[in-house]
Amino acid sequence: MTIILGIESSCDETGVGIVRLGADGLELLADEVASSVEQHVRFGGVVPEVASRAHLEAMVPTMRRAFDTAGLALSDVDAIAVTCGPGLAGALLVGVSAAKAYATALDVPLYGVNHLAGHVAADTLEHGPLPSPALALLVSGGHSQLLRVDDLAGGITEIGSTIDDAAGEAYDKVARVIGLPYPGGPPIDQAARRGNPSAIAFPRGLTGPRDAKYDFSFSGLKTAVARWVEARERDGEEVPVDDVSASFQEAVADVLTAKAVRAATDLGIGTMVISGGVAANSRLKELAAERCAAAGIELRVPRPRLCTDNGAMMAALGAHLVAAGVKPSSLDLSADPALPV
Ligand code: KG4
Ligand code: ZN
Repeated sequence: MTIILGIESSCDETGVGIVRLGADGLELLADEVASSVEQHVRFGGVVPEVASRAHLEAMVPTMRRAFDTAGLALSDVDAIAVTCGPGLAGALLVGVSAAKAYATALDVPLYGVNHLAGHVAADTLEHGPLPSPALALLVSGGHSQLLRVDDLAGGITEIGSTIDDAAGEAYDKVARVIGLPYPGGPPIDQAARRGNPSAIAFPRGLTGPRDAKYDFSFSGLKTAVARWVEARERDGEEVPVDDVSASFQEAVADVLTAKAVRAATDLGIGTMVISGGVAANSRLKELAAERCAAAGIELRVPRPRLCTDNGAMMAALGAHLVAAGVKPSSLDLSADPALPV
């Protein structure tokens, strides 16, 4: 039996998770998250300096809460996994420094792990071991990627990504245009339920015959929404927030699910995982379920709590590396804001 501590600080969430790796798999013992999102609201996006300072303040209290919840002492830890990239440099450094300090004090192995791989590993906490190969659609405020996952311990290949904005970023920017609060995903999701998804035909980026098959683009969609709203305002007409939300959301869900299902089908992959903050989206989940069922693909979407940034997913990934006998990182580990998957 092995206890693994996971630390996450790549963006605005300070996450500390603890998992137990036993003969019968992974058990989640604690998943504590402190978010600085409230401090970023008035800026309409994450401010790196503010996020770094918030991590510094939250790290030790979040750590204490996690150990209290798990009913464990620091000395029970057998290995530590920390996000070392990709993400905001200053934010990542807080988690990496904390992990190095704990690993040194406890004399346990340290694993510098990839944030994107962590999002995929999150699903194993809810649905058990991932079949190989699997296709992962990662959609959050910072990333929109299609990954082929052969092995969580180093066998992940990016097959597509956004060429401009991330899906969550598009939600946040469109929310601002139509007067909804930050972060924009939840309020747009709510408003969309009252609106008509076919009211406005917004563009589906990169879906032309000569466009990159598995890449995404959301910047044109965001601009199209802004232009449409400006035109209404110029004409002195009220902006139908519910219809704009529903039509925008339909365009995002349509493109994400169409490309993900196409990739899985082309590559002969029978399992799809959707993770990241946008995986909480009701229409995305509904359309993915419909299209995966039609294509004979098993769909796995972890609960929203595991989809957004957290330390438990990093602990789960660490457990996988320990089980696979991967060599730990050295103590001169640093943060790499652009770490590839
Ligand atoms: O994974 P996450 O918590 O943080 C990172 O960006 O890494 O994702 C946050 C993003 C935000 O852009 C937020 O607007 C979006 O996820 N989001 C949603 C929903 N809930 C959160 N987007 C669409 N629908 C939702 N229900
Ligand atoms: Zn993330």
